[in-house]
Formats: sequence, structure tokens, C-alpha cells
Amino acid sequence: MRSILITGCNRGLGLGLVKHLVNQPQPPQNIFATCRNVNKARELTELADISKNIHIIEIDLTDTEAYDKVVQVVSEKVGSDGLNVLFNNAGVSPKFTRLPLVKEEQLTETYFVNTVTPILLTKALLPLLKTAANNYEDKTKMNVNRSAIINMSSVLGSIADNTSGGFYPYRCSKAALNAATKSMSIDFKEDGILVACLHPGWVRTDMGGNNAPMDVDSSVKNILNTLSILTENHTGCFIQHDGKILPW
Ligand SMILES: NC(=O)c1ccc[n+]([C@@H]2O[C@H](COP(=O)([O-])OP(=O)(O)OC[C@H]3O[C@@H](n4cnc5c(N)ncnc54)[C@H](OP(=O)(O)O)[C@@H]3O)[C@@H](O)[C@H]2O)c1
Repeated sequence: MRSILITGCNRGLGLGLVKHLVNQPQPPQNIFATCRNVNKARELTELADISKNIHIIEIDLTDTEAYDKVVQVVSEKVGSDGLNVLFNNAGVSPKFTRLPLVKEEQLTETYFVNTVTPILLTKALLPLLKTAANNYEDKTKMNVNRSAIINMSSVLGSIADNTSGGFYPYRCSKAALNAATKSMSIDFKEDGILVACLHPGWVRTDMGGNNAPMDVDSSVKNILNTLSILTENHTGCFIQHDGKILPW
């Protein structure tokens, strides 16, 4: 792929994705990495200092009025090539989520970050994704070199897989993101844009915690391998980091 925009790149899986992408034998020409506060994104800024294909965009994703600025920055860099991949990665997971402890604010804030912002950012960047899809020679194919929207979900958003209950804000927000992913896959099929949601595994990040069995590198390696083999058969699917299809 020539260009990718990833949200939430100052730590965790987002930072891991940027690190791995930039070290690929043929890295993307443009990696747009968003973070909320550049001053607190030391590793990312150090990486961008030595890798001219990394462009940091500072944005709190809840500031949806600033999306136009994001589109402008990306447009200026990619020009008529458009944007190949939008990777909606940023997310939040509140603690204390058994029903007696759940608070209204916690539910709405989680839904806003995990569901509303990926949908609205996709809406804002859609023209650039369509341009990339349209530039691709073989119009019968779908893949990340053409155009794709990847929504970082979680197996906790799977209704079929829910055997332990709890996690009200997080589960609901990711189940809703999954529903949005399915709609996008149907709506953008004719445009040739692949849309999928991804479960990264249970990973040792600030969100995943120290007990998670997987490290960021292993998850990200698997994710990038899986992205590289996605085809039109995967659009509208819920996929685990290693390529396994998950139940809704
Ligand atoms: N780790 C796991 O085990 C696991 C499992 C399943 C799914 N996931 C999903 O994977 C994605 C990445 O998770 P992670 O484990 O890397 O989490 P993380 O280490 O907690 O990182 C979360 C990222 O999202 C950003 N973010 C949160 N709210 C934001 C906002 N309002 N505006 C902009 N950026 C915001 C954070 O930025 P700040 O530093 O500014 O807060 C940070 O960069 C999430 O969508 C998560 O739900 C993770």
C-alpha cells in the first residue's frame, strides 16, 4: 500500500503498527499517525524524526469538527493517489464495568470514542479512499493496496462469543462498531473498498494489561500479515489478528 492513516499511534497497538510498517522492506510512502498530544508521544516523534514517510497528526478524535483539517493534511500529501487504508485503531476501555458500577457518562464516552469517531472519520476520509480505489487497475479485486477500512474491534464485541457477561460500555461500543463495519462493507462494495473489523488478540498494552498473553510485536506482525492477504472474500468479516474469522 502507498498510504495508510492509523489513529491512536502514541502507544500500544497503534505505535506498534507504525513501527512495523516503517521497517517493512517496502514501507508505505505515507504513514499518517494520529495522536492526541504530540508532546506526550516521544517514541512516535523520535520515529518520525528519522522516517520522513511518517506524518504525525495531532487530534483528539472527539473533536469531530477538526476532521476537515485531517482530510486537508492527508490530501496535500497523497494528491490524486488518494488514501489506501484507514485504520481506526484508537479506543478506550473503562474499568469497573459490572452493571451495578456502570455510569451513564462511562457508557456514552466509550460509545463516542469507540463507535462514533470511527464512523465520522470514515465519512470524512471516504472521498480519498474512493479515489485510491478508483485508481487501481483491476476493478474486480479488493485488497489493502487498493483501498480498505479496518476497524479495530475486540472479541468482547462479539455477541455470539459472550459467555461471561459484564463489560457493558466496551462490549456495546465494539458490537456497534461491528454493525457499522458490516454496513460500510455493503455500502462501499461497488466502490471497491474492502471493509473489515479486526480483533488484535488479548495484548499487553495499557488497555490489555500485564496479564495479557500476547505482546504488541506478535499481535502487530500477525495483523500486518493478515492485512496483506485480505481479498474481496473478507469484506464485511470480523477477523482475528491471525486471519481466523470470528462469529458476530
Ligand atoms: N490490548 C488489547 O488486549 C485489545 C484487545 C482487543 C481490542 N483492542 C483494541 O485495540 C485498539 C488499541 O488498543 P491498545 O491496546 O493499543 O490500547 P491503549 O494502549 O490504551 O491505546 C489506546 C490509544 O487510543 C488513543 N485514544 C483514546 N482515546 C482517544 C481520543 N479521544 N482521541 C484520540 N486518541 C484516543 C490513545 O491515546 P492517548 O494516549 O492520548 O489516550 C492511545 O493512543 C483499541 O481500539 C482497543 O479497543 C485491544
